[in-house]
Amino acid sequence: MDKRLESLKKDFLVALAKLKDRTQLDQLYQNYFGRKGVLTQALRQVKELAAEERPRVGKLANEIKGELEHVVREARVRLGGELETDRVAFDTTLPGTEVPLGHLHPITTIQYQIEDIAREMGFMILDGPEVESEYYNFTALNIPPDHPARDMQDTFWLTNGHLLRTHTSPVQVRALQKYGAPFRGIVPGRVFRYEATDASHDHTFYQLEGLMVDENISIANLIAMMKALLQGVFQTTVEVRLRPGYFPFVEPGFELDIKCLICNGDGCSVCKRTGWLELMPCGLVHPAVLRASNVDPDRFSGFAFGLGLTRLVMMKYGIHDIRLLLGGDIRFLEQF
Ligand code: PHE
Repeated sequence: MDKRLESLKKDFLVALAKLKDRTQLDQLYQNYFGRKGVLTQALRQVKELAAEERPRVGKLANEIKGELEHVVREARVRLGGELETDRVAFDTTLPGTEVPLGHLHPITTIQYQIEDIAREMGFMILDGPEVESEYYNFTALNIPPDHPARDMQDTFWLTNGHLLRTHTSPVQVRALQKYGAPFRGIVPGRVFRYEATDASHDHTFYQLEGLMVDENISIANLIAMMKALLQGVFQTTVEVRLRPGYFPFVEPGFELDIKCLICNGDGCSVCKRTGWLELMPCGLVHPAVLRASNVDPDRFSGFAFGLGLTRLVMMKYGIHDIRLLLGGDIRFLEQF
């Protein structure tokens, strides 16, 4: 048996040395290593040997097999046609599998920018519940039941009497109740309204509430903060105007408008042909709200604003239809 194996090996090496191409090599390989190949058969016979012979011959047979496989691999590389891939080498020049990378949604990008600016000014970043109680969404904000201001912010009501919050303002009261005065914080968040959808209205959108309560807070503080935020986001001077606005939870109350950046004031569908966009309703916190928040209105005053985050993003990037932002269309989002 030993001799047989040794001569198989010798024959194989002699034959291998004469090979001229890959086809011949494959044929030779088949003749030895194939299912009916001579080497395969010899290996099979090892099993039939006497028990005391078997381990030694088996070992020899496996060594020869390993040796021959090794020279076959070398021959494959030498004869070309294919790289030696089965054990060690692989082609490092082949292109890899590309993993597509996502990025932040434009609303999130702007939200983070504003958070950074506000944080530098010492403001906390807060969250609040999207399912809100009637008390926090309306009553605590000086909008009692049957007050007409409730009609302007109709929303989705739950069967348990709660609602999807119409604005981020309820967090004003929640924050003051929790942290007391003095207080500085902003609240980015999703809000909901019973709204007929068009290019500039959707039933779901984003706001960013700002609140600062301390001794001697005035409109001057409010204007300074709003200017800092808008300049940070737009990185340019934006034209703004302040006009009186009514919200039951501020007194006095204002609307801060910015000149429409899409039409540059000429009038378009986003600014409803007015050239201006309502961006930041704001004012000084109403004493009734401070009282509901357990803050003494005789000692403290504060400003609040409700930045329309979705609208701000539309302005910043020149997006003419709000529905694109919530549509989840990847072709739209890939542009940012
Ligand atoms: N919460 C108001 C709204 O959504 C905006 C607002 C916030 C107004 C803060 C004044 C002060 O319409």
